[in-house]
Amino acid sequence: MKTLITGATGQLGSLVVTHLLNRIPASNISVSVRTPSKADDLAAKGIDVRHGDFDDLALMTAAFKDIDTALIISGEADNATRIAQHRTAVDAAKAAGVKHLVYTSIIDPKANADFTYSAIHLDTENYIKQSGLRYTILRNSFYADLLMAGVPHALETGDFGAPAGNAKITYIPRNDLAEAAAVVLAKPTDHLNATYDLTGTKGVTHTEIAGYVATATGKTVQFVDLPAEVHVGILQSIGLPGHLVEALSGLYVGAKKGDYETVSNDFKTIVGRPPQSVEKFLAEALK
Ligand SMILES: NC(=O)c1ccc[n+]([C@@H]2O[C@H](COP(=O)([O-])OP(=O)(O)OC[C@H]3O[C@@H](n4cnc5c(N)ncnc54)[C@H](OP(=O)(O)O)[C@@H]3O)[C@@H](O)[C@H]2O)c1
Repeated sequence: MKTLITGATGQLGSLVVTHLLNRIPASNISVSVRTPSKADDLAAKGIDVRHGDFDDLALMTAAFKDIDTALIISGEADNATRIAQHRTAVDAAKAAGVKHLVYTSIIDPKANADFTYSAIHLDTENYIKQSGLRYTILRNSFYADLLMAGVPHALETGDFGAPAGNAKITYIPRNDLAEAAAVVLAKPTDHLNATYDLTGTKGVTHTEIAGYVATATGKTVQFVDLPAEVHVGILQSIGLPGHLVEALSGLYVGAKKGDYETVSNDFKTIVGRPPQSVEKFLAEALK
């Protein structure tokens, strides 16, 4: 049985490959990447490296040739572009005869969520379900790794800033999400047409997160509840594209309404252990 992973030169995809290599032989693994030369390390491990891009239906269809199960890792673009790209990837998989699609969605996808990227994931989920292919949807919560972006400033100034108020967010390490994907890819028939909510063990507030950073580093760190417009200004000043600024600021608006605080047990059910807590994740990352 042949398994393919898209985005394998990205952060999540490369971790999925690592976890999958612990479960199935390299000779059964293919990857589809935009720049094959960036995947020389994977080729050296015996993985079949293919050229694919969600912007190119013919290229993507060729990349999916002879594949049984494919993990589509969502891309990075504005909503209209990304919806079209993901639909192209699904069309290509179907045209190539892929039997089972696994997709990295977002927790609680909605058409009109404040976290604007949510609509992309809802569209892609629905498009996959309408394709008639077998599927497994991995509704990933937010990466705990994202929290590291605020750490250098916090250690310099003592302020861990975000427009988060008392929001609780079920952050989960990217590496754990990669392992969950690998578990599914290794035995997709156990996860036929399933949708999993992959969350952390609890919703954590930014006050708690600042405390974890303080404990891990021995520094004084406090949470500062940034006004939304200050946060937007910071994101713009570091040159993020408008759609990403909108999504990141919307994430906190939604989180403050309780959008991302619901904990699921699905990770433990499929991986067989709970995910690493945010506290432990930060303690290890800041060692
Ligand atoms: N749950 C969360 O908290 C969270 C946070 C951030 C992002 N995400 C989503 O999860 C995805 C994976 O996360 P990550 O940390 O691995 O992000 P990442 O390191 O930026 O990787 C994104 C991957 O998507 C690939 N990609 C982008 N556009 C593509 C296209 N047109 N055709 C084919 N592949 C394309 C990239 O290819 P190259 O390697 O060629 O650049 C890269 O491998 C992201 O793309 C995003 O959709 C989720």
